[in-house]
Amino acid sequence: LHMTDQVNDNTAPDTSAPAADGGVAREVKRRRTFAIISHPDAGKTTLTEKLLLFGGAIQMAGTVKARKSGRHATSDWLEIEKQRGISVASSVMQFAYDDCVINLLDTPGHQDFSEDTYRVLTAVDAAVMVVDAAKGVEAQTIKLLEVCRLRNTPIITFINKMDREVREPLEVLDEIESVLKIHCAPVTWPIGMGKRFQGVYHLLNDEVMRFTPGEEKADQEVEVLKGAQIDKLTEQCPSEMQTMRDETELVMGAGASFDLEEFLKGKQTPVFFGSGINNFGVREVLRALVDWAPSPLPRETDKRMVRPDEPAFTGFVFKIQANMDPNHRDRIAFMRVCSGRYSPGMKVKHRRTGKEMKLANAVTFMANERTRMDEAYAGDIIGVHNHGQLQIGDVLTEGEALTFKGIPYFAPELFSRARLRDPMKAKQLEKGLRQLGEEGAVQVFLPLVDNTPLIGAVGQLQFEVVEHRLKDEYGVDAVFERAGIHTARWVTCPDANHLNEFVKANQGRLAKDVDGNYAYLADTGVNLRLAQERWPKVQFHATREHG
Ligand code: G4P
Repeated sequence: LHMTDQVNDNTAPDTSAPAADGGVAREVKRRRTFAIISHPDAGKTTLTEKLLLFGGAIQMAGTVKARKSGRHATSDWLEIEKQRGISVASSVMQFAYDDCVINLLDTPGHQDFSEDTYRVLTAVDAAVMVVDAAKGVEAQTIKLLEVCRLRNTPIITFINKMDREVREPLEVLDEIESVLKIHCAPVTWPIGMGKRFQGVYHLLNDEVMRFTPGEEKADQEVEVLKGAQIDKLTEQCPSEMQTMRDETELVMGAGASFDLEEFLKGKQTPVFFGSGINNFGVREVLRALVDWAPSPLPRETDKRMVRPDEPAFTGFVFKIQANMDPNHRDRIAFMRVCSGRYSPGMKVKHRRTGKEMKLANAVTFMANERTRMDEAYAGDIIGVHNHGQLQIGDVLTEGEALTFKGIPYFAPELFSRARLRDPMKAKQLEKGLRQLGEEGAVQVFLPLVDNTPLIGAVGQLQFEVVEHRLKDEYGVDAVFERAGIHTARWVTCPDANHLNEFVKANQGRLAKDVDGNYAYLADTGVNLRLAQERWPKVQFHATREHG
C-alpha cells in the first residue's frame, strides 16, 4: 500500500499555472501532523487503528496490534530488539483523508516511556487526548499535557469506552478542566452509556449519531438522525434523552461553546464522546483534525521565524533511533520538515558542524514498510540514515544558519551511576556515555566534586537500553546502580557573581551537563524547595532547550 499514490488520487487535478513557490504553500495547507496522548489502556492503539482505517491504511491495523501485543512482554532489551522492526515502522504513520495528508506520530507506551515521548510532541502541531471515561484523567496524561502546554499545542479530546458503565460525562469534563486546566467545549454528548448507550448528540449539527456495536464499520454506516427522527428516539428512550438534554443545557449555559481561536491557542479543547473499539465517534475526531487543527505553523529560530511555505528546505531532528537493522549499524534521525520541499539527493547544510550532507536516502514509514519518499513538505517527517553525525535538535537547511527553538531536555526523574565490571574500561565508558548523551538516549551529568558520571533518565527503559548499547557498541560491561537523587533542576542567574556564590555554597549538590550547564541535584522535593527559598534570585528550570 503506497500512500503517496492515494494522496495524489485524492487531489483534484490542478490545471492552473504552477505557483511561484512550486506548490509548496498548497502542500503545506493540506498537512496535519499530530500525536495521540493518553495513559496506557485508555485506547490509543485502538483509536490509531480506526483512524488508519479511515485513511485506507487497512493493513496498518494489524501492525499496530502486533506491536501492541509486544508491549505487555517484559521490558527485556532483547525483546525490545525483536519488536523494534515493527515499532519503528509504526512510529510515523502517514495517511490521506479528505484531501489532507495526515502524519500521526506515535508516542511510546508505558513501558518504553522515555524522553522520546516528550520530544515527539515538539514535532507535532496538534494532539488528540484519549481519556478512559471510567478512569478520567490519569497520571501519564497529566505529564504529556504539560509538555503540550509548553508550545500551546491545540488538543482534541476523545472520551472513550462509552459502551461501558463509566463515570458521568459532566464529572469527567469537570475533572479535565480542574486537573488539566483546559476549558472543555463538548461537540458531541453521549446518550446513555454501557448497555444503554444510544449514541451521541452533535451539538453543532443538531443531529444524533446512533450507536451500534461492530468493529470494522466505516463512517457511512453510522445512522444519523435529524429533526423528527430525534423526536422518535426521545419516545424510545425518554430518560437517556432527557438526561442528555439537561446536561447539554447545563454545559452550554456555562458558556462552553466551541471557539476556534481558543482551541488554536491551546486554551480550549473540543470534546468528543465515543467508543473506539466500535469505531464510534472516531470520524468526528478525524474531522476536527482536518477542519480545525492547524496546518504547519511558522517556527521560531534563533534568528527569525521560518514560515512553512518558504521555498528553502529546513528541518530539525527530534528523535534518534539507533541500530534499527542489526545488520547495519545505522541510526535513523527523525526529522520534522519545517519549510520548503525535500527531494531525494538534495544537498543540505548541517548547522552544528557546518558540513554539507546529501539527503539521498531519507525514508518515511508507510504501512509496515520503510518507503523511499519522493517529496516531503512542512509537517512531514523524514527518516535520515546516518552513522551518528546527527543529534537531537540538529538542524539541516539549504544554506542558512538557523537553530530551531523549543526542542527540550526534561529534568530526569531517575538517576543511576555506572559501575564498571572491568576498571580498565573507564575511557570507553566515558566515550560511550558522552555519545549516548549527545544522541539523547540518556542525560549525563558530571558532579562538581566527584568524577563518577550520573546518568539521568525519564524512564527506566532508557537505562536498560544504554546498558545494552554500552556493551554492544563500546565493549563496556557496566552495571547501573540507582543513585539517591530525586530530581534535577538547571540553574541560571542573570547575576554571575551571585551564581558563583550559589555554586560555592552548593558544590556537593551541583553537576554539569554535557553542554556545561549547571544542574542542581536534589535528594528530595523538600530539599529542592528549601534551596529555592534560600536562593530566590537563582532560577531553577525543569526543562532546558537544546543547544
Ligand atoms: P492503549 O493503546 O491506550 O494502551 O489502549 P488500547 O487501545 O490497547 O486499549 C486498551 C484496552 O481497552 C483494550 O482491551 C481495548 O480493546 C479496550 N478498548 C479500547 N477502546 C475501547 C472501547 O471503546 N470500549 C471498550 N469496551 N473497550 C475498549 P484489552 O483487553 O487490554 O485488549 P484486547 O484483549 O481487547 O486486545
